[in-house]
Amino acid sequence: MAQTEAMPAIEQPRIGKPGDPCTMVIFGASGDLTRRKLIPALYNLAKNELLSREFAVIGIARAPMSTEEYRKKVSEDIKQFATDKVDPDIWEWFIRRLNYLSGDMGDKGLYPRLKDLLDKVDQDHSTHGNHMYYLATAADFFGPTVEHLAEVGLMQQDAQRWRRVVIEKPFGHDLESARLLNQQLLRVAEEKQIYRIDHYLGKETVQNILALRFANGIFEPIWNRRYIDHIQISVAETVGVEKRGGYYDKAGALRDMVPNHIMQLISLSAMEPPVSFRADAVRDEQGKILHAIQPMSSEDVLIRTVRGQYGEGMVGGERVPAYRSEPGVPEDSKTETFVAMKLLIDNWRWADVPFYLRTGKHLPSRSTSIVIQFRRAPFVLFRDTPVENLMPNQLVLNIQPEEGISLRFAAKVPGPAMRLGAVNMNFEYTDYFGAIPSTGYERLLHDCMIGDATLFQRADMVEAGWCVVSPVLDVWRALPARNFPNYAAGTWGPKEAEDLLERDGRHWRDFEK
Ligand code: BG6
Repeated sequence: MAQTEAMPAIEQPRIGKPGDPCTMVIFGASGDLTRRKLIPALYNLAKNELLSREFAVIGIARAPMSTEEYRKKVSEDIKQFATDKVDPDIWEWFIRRLNYLSGDMGDKGLYPRLKDLLDKVDQDHSTHGNHMYYLATAADFFGPTVEHLAEVGLMQQDAQRWRRVVIEKPFGHDLESARLLNQQLLRVAEEKQIYRIDHYLGKETVQNILALRFANGIFEPIWNRRYIDHIQISVAETVGVEKRGGYYDKAGALRDMVPNHIMQLISLSAMEPPVSFRADAVRDEQGKILHAIQPMSSEDVLIRTVRGQYGEGMVGGERVPAYRSEPGVPEDSKTETFVAMKLLIDNWRWADVPFYLRTGKHLPSRSTSIVIQFRRAPFVLFRDTPVENLMPNQLVLNIQPEEGISLRFAAKVPGPAMRLGAVNMNFEYTDYFGAIPSTGYERLLHDCMIGDATLFQRADMVEAGWCVVSPVLDVWRALPARNFPNYAAGTWGPKEAEDLLERDGRHWRDFEK
């Protein structure tokens, strides 16, 4: 197997300047997202000197608790969720900036109290009146909370101080509700105040798609329908729905993964080169691709989409129950835990190049990847070579858990006869850059603190994502699945997902080989 030349790991210098002074208000301060991601990410930023010295946090949750008690709780949690050894001095510096406010976000009375506390904290920590409101809560609260903040003047920004709101999917549950949410937010805030997080954009390897395509001269000339046969995007998970049955059963795999994470992967892989890396230049190009995805007719939905639900099976050597036996899931649930589909993009670069997607729970291995399969060479010279050895070139962008890029090409097998074999040239991030402990939220939080919205979704992008999936949701709702469960946990989804490609003479890349 061909290997890229090994290079010594390079030292990581601090990259970038610290975020602006600000107070971050976390709604949902005792929830999972805060414990697992936000606090560890803030700590990592502090450690890498990317947090302003003039920084503070106000955590808000219902539970009655003093600031001292909250600090204790957070100090316990970090032991479990830190991505690296915690430095006691940095932690001490950080924890002294943490404040707690107990209250119900739905209660208007909370907001004048928050305003008073913000005034005090702004003064104590010189945070310049800049506020970042992080809504680590259920989506139902997004609209009303931003309205309540606006009512007491907390969304008002001017040249001296900014006010930004961060929210994370789900942004609506279909096109109409997404539009309504956007309208509700934009009645009281400007688009540039809203930071819609998609945690996939915090992943290094997702950001690397832009570097690979636009910082190298060799890929762009062949990145089009003339050379590319098709693209496969797989987001395979080994986990089931765990304790999220209640949420998941209303969402399903399509809503949970496609209009957001998978659309990000498609738009970054397929977009035209932006004129600059300014937020709107990049997002304009991403938006254009999403709008160019061919809308599916009802007939297309029947032919080009596949849904599945897992039955019981073996995953990682352990027996796991069927989806319908998971806590919070009805016994006759018709919700899909697997989806595959074929999309087409109507523009000059991609006309007739299929984009095949699949994502599912309880699949045999965890792997997120983008496979770019090139057209076959005319193998006239190798007429006697067995066809299974004449594999087309594939460029694979491995997003996770392995992070890297590999290129498959044909090479001569040593020996007197002309025989061909497929070999891989591999680049792995850790070989070159070492492993950087991260939650995936550091970059996004820091970007929000410096006002860089490149990696956040604009309202039009969210709506464009829903435009793609809404026709599918409509047909699936009208024709509920009758054959669920139709794949055993621990397998690659229903057989129809294989057929989807086989009909076109293609196959999913086998990640287990
Ligand atoms: C979330 C989905 O947005 O992404 C989950 O709600 C899914 O169902 C998760 O498991 C996958 O994220 P990651 O980073 O583990 O690939």
